[in-house]
Amino acid sequence: MGKNKVVIGCQWGDEGKGKIVDLLAADADIIARFQGGANAGHTIIVDDKKYVLHLIPSGIIHPGKICCIGNGVVLDPFGLREELDVLAGQGIDYRGRLWISPATNLVLPYHKLIDAVQEKNRGTGSLGTTKRGIGPAYVDKVARQGIRVVDLFSPDRLRRRLDYQRVVKEQYLAGSNDERSDLDRTCEELLGLVELFRPLVTDVSRMLHQAHAEGKTILYEGAQGSMLDVDLGTYPFATSSNTTVGGALTGLGIGLKMIDEVVGVIKAYATRVGAGPFPTELVDDTGERLRAEGDEYGATTGRPRRCGWLDLVALRHVVRINGVDSIAITKLDVLDGLDEVKVCTAYELDGQRLPEVPLDLAQLGHVRPVYETLPGWKADSTGQTSFGSLAGNARKYLNFVAHDLNVDICVVSTGAKRQETIMM
Ligand code: GDP
Ligand code: IMO
Ligand code: MG
Repeated sequence: MGKNKVVIGCQWGDEGKGKIVDLLAADADIIARFQGGANAGHTIIVDDKKYVLHLIPSGIIHPGKICCIGNGVVLDPFGLREELDVLAGQGIDYRGRLWISPATNLVLPYHKLIDAVQEKNRGTGSLGTTKRGIGPAYVDKVARQGIRVVDLFSPDRLRRRLDYQRVVKEQYLAGSNDERSDLDRTCEELLGLVELFRPLVTDVSRMLHQAHAEGKTILYEGAQGSMLDVDLGTYPFATSSNTTVGGALTGLGIGLKMIDEVVGVIKAYATRVGAGPFPTELVDDTGERLRAEGDEYGATTGRPRRCGWLDLVALRHVVRINGVDSIAITKLDVLDGLDEVKVCTAYELDGQRLPEVPLDLAQLGHVRPVYETLPGWKADSTGQTSFGSLAGNARKYLNFVAHDLNVDICVVSTGAKRQETIMM
């Protein structure tokens, strides 16, 4: 199939993108993140060592691979420093192979403060954000008042732009005794990061174009999931970026022809963390079982994830809007041992069948999922590395999903570790 792949989440995040990107990174020269920020938590397990990445591309675990953070990301510079320190402590040397676009907007402490205040103000309508300051940072970017990586290298301009924040964010900052409202302190701390950033900053768009022209292989790493896309997801219960394929183009400054294949990552069931409609959610023993077996607790916030059956109606929407070519199905092992496995094939609303995800969110919150019930399997899938060694009913389940979505399966993941994988 295609050489330059974009990996995107097809549900509400946490599909196992980190594991899949780590696998595909073996065949890539460059791995590039294009949107989101430290709201992401991508987990990779290699040789019993666990790595959780928030900002740094999941390719970093492979020695020698080049990793880029594009202009579409919102970057918490203090979070980045911490992440680099943790990686260094785990023996990962990033020097000379991590590059950041100067046009990347920064997430600063006041963004996190505002995120928290806004969530509180929303009361019962809160979105359940990760409180990583993502929404407020994207607001600043679009309002053309953000502070970007390039500003770090002009202290006067940095001070001026921070001073302007005092004016536009007075409502949140004036009179606050939260230390995150202290802009002088933020400015000083930022200036303390300049030498860390200086060797990392380059024109990522140009670098990727040049690499592409030289025939190098690029892997684009999405964060969050398509159902959280700010335009095409379950708005307003969404994140603030384009998590769908278009985000890769604008978030890295690449051309359409620099993507050859769209790989969608799908968890074998569904999870969601945070608020918002989730038609196939199970608030019963089966939901509890999926959470326990799948260890469904957020990699960024530790919150328990809501669990439910696979939703093919939502997935058909996601396959269509992204032009998904192939799918990587993760966590098949978590379904082992169930007597039966259900998949949602249609929605019903007021007795009417809905073939598509309704665009009116109030409707989505009230649809009734229509299920197809498939037989479960007792055999242990964990660690299997060939399709043929899976239980017949597990293979039937996978084929049912691929056939319904009219896509090929490229990977089946049978455990959290790198080797626990079936490459198709
Ligand atoms: P991401 O945000 O899409 O990268 O996914 P997360 O890392 O937040 O969540 C996926 C979780 O499932 C992580 O803890 C992974 O280690 C784990 N995981 C990934 N693939 C599999 C799998 O096939 N089976 C099991 N049991 N766990 C998996
Ligand atoms: P990865 O990359 C799962 C969710 C939050 C909340 C909504 C908005 O690990 O798959 P935000 O902080 O972005 O303003 O929160 O989006 N969310 C995620 N859920 N995985 C993620 O990332 C997420 N990033 C944001 O829980 O519902
Ligand atoms: Mg995650």
